[in-house]
Amino acid sequence: MPTILIVYHSRSGNTEQMAKAVEEGARSEGVRVVREKVGSASLQDLLKADGIILGSPTYYGTMAAEMKAFIDRSVKYHGKLEAKVGAAFSSCGGLGGGAETTVLDITKALLIHGMVVQGDPWGSHYGTVSIGRPNAAAKKECKKLGEKVARLVKRLTPAS
Ligand SMILES: Cc1cc2nc3c(=O)[nH]c(=O)nc-3n(C[C@H](O)[C@H](O)[C@H](O)COP(=O)(O)O)c2cc1C
Repeated sequence: MPTILIVYHSRSGNTEQMAKAVEEGARSEGVRVVREKVGSASLQDLLKADGIILGSPTYYGTMAAEMKAFIDRSVKYHGKLEAKVGAAFSSCGGLGGGAETTVLDITKALLIHGMVVQGDPWGSHYGTVSIGRPNAAAKKECKKLGEKVARLVKRLTPAS
């Protein structure tokens, strides 16, 4: 069964709520999901996962330092994450607060790792964003992100 790893940082719980909804969506597609706070995630988890979804609150228009540090440490496995599926989500404080730039910053790192990132022609084009605590609509988008990543992982992961 393919595995999806969700790693997130959250100080006041908003991004964590998003992470839980992303997890729910992915699980509904019948994949294994490991959800971890960035402080507890190990780099080895990246190697084991078929899909990697990173979530961070928006801090000054980009990801939190904790998430950036995790990504920087992932250089240990540079080249080893190629063709895994990636995705990003972010919670920010207000309209135009920079959640999209945060998602794109995380996505740049995923692409540098050689990962496959699927856009969305209808909802959150770049990855899922929320203002503050995710409302029902934002949670729905988070679930959709989890479902989409899981479906792509299933298409790209050979049965073992
Ligand atoms: C250090 C810091 C910087 C922030 N910078 C921004 C920002 O640039 N734009 C924004 O909209 N919100 C900003 N916020 C608000 C958070 O992104 C927002 O409250 C988010 O929902 C927090 O997520 P969390 O509950 O997962 O910690 C900032 C918060 C902190 C603590």
